[in-house]
Amino acid sequence: MELSASLAAWSVLLGCLGLLVSNVVYNVLAHPLKAFPGPLAAGASTWWKTYIEVFKQKSMTDVLVELHAKYGDVVRVGPNELHFAKPSAFNDIYNASSRWDKERTLYESFGEDHSSFGLRNYAEAKQRKDVLQPLFSRRSIINMQALVREKMDRLAETLSKNNEQGKSADLLFAFRCFAIDTITTYCFAKSVDAIDEPAWQAPIVVAMDNSLPTFHVFKHFPIFRKLIFSLPPWLAIKMSPETAGLTHLQVILGEQVREVSAHPERLASSPHTTIYHRLLDPEAHKGRPLPDATALYEEAQTMVFAGGVTVGDALSIGFFHVLDQPGLLTRLRAEVCTAWPDLDSPPKLEALETLPFLTATIKESLRMSPGASSPLLRIVPPAGATISGRAVPPGTIVGMSTVLVHMSPEIFEEPTKFKPDRWLAPDAESLGPWLVAFSKGPRSCLGLNLAWCELYIVFATMLRRFDMSLDGTTAEDMVWRDCFTPHFPRRHLHAWCNPQPKI
Ligand code: HEM
Repeated sequence: MELSASLAAWSVLLGCLGLLVSNVVYNVLAHPLKAFPGPLAAGASTWWKTYIEVFKQKSMTDVLVELHAKYGDVVRVGPNELHFAKPSAFNDIYNASSRWDKERTLYESFGEDHSSFGLRNYAEAKQRKDVLQPLFSRRSIINMQALVREKMDRLAETLSKNNEQGKSADLLFAFRCFAIDTITTYCFAKSVDAIDEPAWQAPIVVAMDNSLPTFHVFKHFPIFRKLIFSLPPWLAIKMSPETAGLTHLQVILGEQVREVSAHPERLASSPHTTIYHRLLDPEAHKGRPLPDATALYEEAQTMVFAGGVTVGDALSIGFFHVLDQPGLLTRLRAEVCTAWPDLDSPPKLEALETLPFLTATIKESLRMSPGASSPLLRIVPPAGATISGRAVPPGTIVGMSTVLVHMSPEIFEEPTKFKPDRWLAPDAESLGPWLVAFSKGPRSCLGLNLAWCELYIVFATMLRRFDMSLDGTTAEDMVWRDCFTPHFPRRHLHAWCNPQPKI
């Protein structure tokens, strides 16, 4: 009996090993991508990526840069995955007529499969985005700009108080708190009031930051993700106290969704249109079924993540460079002060948008700060595709990180330098199409008008209301690790923010 049990165990083990070996042999010798260059281990097994991202904890964008330097413009980074380096490849993959699906392993790891971001299929995502788009249109943002200003004013008050106490400010967290309060108020008409937390250590912001490195574990080990997400909140908090803020957010959003689902009529008393008004409007869905509670919840979570981290990062990176180059700071302040002479009468967004140097600085901040640093993986459709001049078989996973476009010396002279003037040079028009921070095509960013509005209002207000200087932050502190969005593991951007006297 004992003998037959151990024989069975051995047979299973040997069977698995045989399968593994034959898979590796197939990937290396017979796979349709076998002719593409790349590390042997990457072509042999998806474990190569797991090893790099989870065990070595390297930043995949750095690894990709090294691989392209070694292997050329197209690199096989997985048995069925290619990454591209030539900027033109970005247009081949992410263009207006491209209807390619998002890739499963990457996008399922967010646990937002029923949201505008997580729906992998083009047609389903389009329907959802069409429903939400009016809320994020330019007109809607123009009408709602007072909400963004209100959050900025609140942030300015807390920055002044912090300064009175003789402290510099953790601007990464301060800006992320601003972005979280803005997005939650904009989307749900309810703020999480992160700005008011001492030293901007809001539990949700701290937890989102702590959870960034876990993203790779969730991606490579989906079982672990499912286990964590299925735990009751009290147990999830006990097992992972550092991400308790996320569990609290899940509870808050869950309650919100239960409330709007049970009492949609209460939406009538909301101070402004929210995502729930759009998502529960039968007319917006043109006769199609309304999203269920799961979809409502995941859409809400998507908004918090998509709007909460990206804007804060762009501001943090932008301000580091501006404060690091006193000449830039002086020019920017002079421009903003001319357009904003009376401190109590801030200009409208439309007026800020006409300021050339401010606009150029925001563009440069977006170029240097990847909202999504990882390659945005897509599946080549059944007809196959030509990318970077190479025929790519159907079903291949393809991607290109925006970092490789923004750091391409082919497009941007001295790409690693923060130079807003490049956007004002005579040939600046030719650069425009290569600013791909919000991606391109049908799966590009839904929130880009809101993001631009936030960037204009925060940049202008910080420059006008504060005398700012770095508190010891160095370029090394700003080095990030690719965790889909950047994760800043070192000391965050710290700056002195001394309120300007009213003039
Ligand atoms: C500086 C700020 C921002 C940057 C750089 C940025 C960047 C991006 C990028 C690169 C994508 C494409 C992701 C992919 O292909 O998987 C994206 C998608 C998305 N963004 Fe943003 N984003 C920003 C702010 C926002 C804000 C404020 C919102 C709030 C509504 C938002 C909502 C979304 C949504 C819902 C998607 C999914 C679109 C789709 O998959 O079709 N983003 N964003």
